[in-house]
Amino acid sequence: MTAEPARLDAPAPVAVLDRKRAEGAAARLLEHGSVVLLPDLDFDTAGFEDVMFAEVSGEGVKNVSYSPATGELKGTTAEGAAREKLKTLVARYSAWAEELVRDLAPGYAASLQVGRTSYRPRAADHNLSKRKDDRRLHVDAFPSSPVQGRRILRVFRNVNPSGEARYWRVGEPFAEHAARFLPKARAMAPGQAMLMQTLGLTKGRRTAYDNLMLQLHDASKEDDGYQASAPHWDVNFPPGATWLVFTDSVVHAALGGRYAFEQTFYVPVAAMEHPEASPLRTLERITGRTLV
Ligand SMILES: [Fe+2]
Repeated sequence: MTAEPARLDAPAPVAVLDRKRAEGAAARLLEHGSVVLLPDLDFDTAGFEDVMFAEVSGEGVKNVSYSPATGELKGTTAEGAAREKLKTLVARYSAWAEELVRDLAPGYAASLQVGRTSYRPRAADHNLSKRKDDRRLHVDAFPSSPVQGRRILRVFRNVNPSGEARYWRVGEPFAEHAARFLPKARAMAPGQAMLMQTLGLTKGRRTAYDNLMLQLHDASKEDDGYQASAPHWDVNFPPGATWLVFTDSVVHAALGGRYAFEQTFYVPVAAMEHPEASPLRTLERITGRTLV
């Protein structure tokens, strides 16, 4: 095994598109593992600089987190009028990102579920456990919020005021990643999913699919050899860039940068143009089992 990370020679799976070209093409590209990068969209933050670039997130808290469903804002030390202003901004980003997804991927619109919104004013925390360290290559899976097969689609935007890019690594295709780590995965104990739900450890039932995705997430992050030598591309997202990605199938690591928005969406596999490319169908093909 080489200690040098393997830089892939082929072009990175990043599709750089203007909005017109992205309409109608985004879903196919995203579903086949591309990051869709829109360099020149406008999200107006004029007048919000005071709350965007102040110390608004709490010590030891990764993100300011907002629920579009309830209007609840978490992870910020801002109070009073500043808090309300920050909430207004994050809610505006959420609505903007939702309109963007509905325009670019109209096939998802009828069944699109809007998840949490986050604002990430801080640089990556270097003191996290390997499992929590998003600077390590991984696919997204949520321990307490089972997706039960639904896709995780995320819309990011870099709003850094001093020209700093957001630095990512993008790794191998999902099927290769899954084949690499699935042999180490263990099934849940009988009754475990029901017990976790009953105890409130998970919101909803953790399916066999969720269990395997969590194990892919943990196994890749905990594998120092893989992190040191995994094939990958380096990708920079400059300020003003917006990018969409299915983070449950695109192997990724967020190495650096600060001041970014992110909106999470859930998309049922049935709404996909190419459901066979989903992590659910891929894992079912590899394991020969129905996972949801
Ligand atoms: Fe992630």
